[in-house]
Amino acid sequence: MQRREFMRNAALAGAGLLIAPRGLFGADAPSNRLNIALLGVGGRGKAHYDTLGTQNVVALCDLHEGNLAGGAKKFPKAKTYLDWRKLLDDHKKLGLDAVVCCTADHHHALIANGCINRDLHCYMEKPLAITVEEARSVRANWLTKKSKLATQVGMQRHALSNFNRVRELILDGAIGELKSAAAWGNRKIPREGYWPAAGAPPKGFHWDLWLGPAPDHPYNPGYFANTGTARGNCTQWNMFWDFGVGQVGDMGSHTMDLLWNAVDAKLPTSAEAKGEKFNPDVTPVECESHFEHPANGWRGPLKTSWYQGGAMPKSPKEFIDLNKIDHGVLYKGSQGFLVASFDNHVVLPYGKEADMSYYKPRAKDQLLPPVGHFQEQWLAACKNPSLKTACDFEYSGDMIEQMLLGLVAYRVGKRLEYDGAAGKVTNCPEANALLGRKYRAGWSLNG
Ligand SMILES: NC(=O)c1ccc[n+]([C@@H]2O[C@H](COP(=O)([O-])OP(=O)(O)OC[C@H]3O[C@@H](n4cnc5c(N)ncnc54)[C@H](O)[C@@H]3O)[C@@H](O)[C@H]2O)c1
Repeated sequence: MQRREFMRNAALAGAGLLIAPRGLFGADAPSNRLNIALLGVGGRGKAHYDTLGTQNVVALCDLHEGNLAGGAKKFPKAKTYLDWRKLLDDHKKLGLDAVVCCTADHHHALIANGCINRDLHCYMEKPLAITVEEARSVRANWLTKKSKLATQVGMQRHALSNFNRVRELILDGAIGELKSAAAWGNRKIPREGYWPAAGAPPKGFHWDLWLGPAPDHPYNPGYFANTGTARGNCTQWNMFWDFGVGQVGDMGSHTMDLLWNAVDAKLPTSAEAKGEKFNPDVTPVECESHFEHPANGWRGPLKTSWYQGGAMPKSPKEFIDLNKIDHGVLYKGSQGFLVASFDNHVVLPYGKEADMSYYKPRAKDQLLPPVGHFQEQWLAACKNPSLKTACDFEYSGDMIEQMLLGLVAYRVGKRLEYDGAAGKVTNCPEANALLGRKYRAGWSLNG
């Protein structure tokens, strides 16, 4: 097979998209609707209301009674729960098919496994997990059921057409052979440490359920933007190690997705990182992590990097100010650079071949098919699991496992050699101790 033809086929396969046979699930006829539960009804959950409204929302869960009541107004037929474990226990009674999860991050992997173990399709808001062990557990679990369960991680920018265009340019050789790719994000949310005790939680807000699997901490409204309610915003609590992984789980998940979509990488063989001084309470603002990957069928060995909170890759040209792109990716190839934001890109060929005669753009009819509506792509796959989703738990699990391994490398301050098949660091025992976390009694990763 010609290299170009091989790359095009790889592009189509990697994009993981099949066109749905029309009429198979058709419009959302009442008989063809899914019974869905929404976990985490306020906040990000609201962004899913319209799409979920096309199905039967049979259950809602929120540990904030006010937020739960707000959701119940929108979906009056749904049974309401404060504790997602009880809702999942009732899945048969509810006739549940699928779950959309918008809770705080430290519950995500537990809920994802809870869904897979009960044969429920799952849409999980990003990040899929907050430890390496969690990412591995969810991915491994799903891979045993991938032919019957549809999964998607909420990295909805993936549906922007620029994701496909960047992938096509890289695969078709617009910058020659891909050598490295670096993603960055400039969001900065500094915190000093866990908040001190500050009175009782507001009435109707179940702080103990919010803590869930995390170690005990006293309540403080600071975790919720000092609003005194549970409706803050993820950026108020995701910087704390027990509740999130800072920028890795925040904008980093979206931006690394732009990189990951174009490089066809699996787990790295090494990780190293550096950043500001380690704080045992709070994830770093400024940090950079670097990874090595073996060659695959269409490129040689690859280096990937993640920069956050002020750390930045070097600009390829003095007239390009990467700082003007809040969240972007710089790809380096043997013939040039490609700089991408979420919705646009620029190619910078260098040297003698700057005429780009080495590159033949693909014909229009060979362009990758659009993802379409991101949540609807998952709904369609729930109804016909032979349809792929763009950000399933394998693609997204690999991606977040690498990012989380980078945080472990940052914590130990050493270059780590990683055996991805075994999920073990082979040269640093203290790093292996940081791949997972302990859960409070009553909460388990694989329940
Ligand atoms: N894909 C995106 O672009 C995007 C955007 C924003 C947030 N998010 C993700 O959505 C999730 C929620 O973020 P947010 O900003 O809405 O947070 P938030 O704290 O503002 O709201 C979360 C809502 O879920 C409820 N909740 C939290 N933990 C719960 C639990 N264990 N059980 C039941 N209810 C629970 C809260 O009471 C609240 O109503 C996060 O994982 C975040 O990363 C994704």
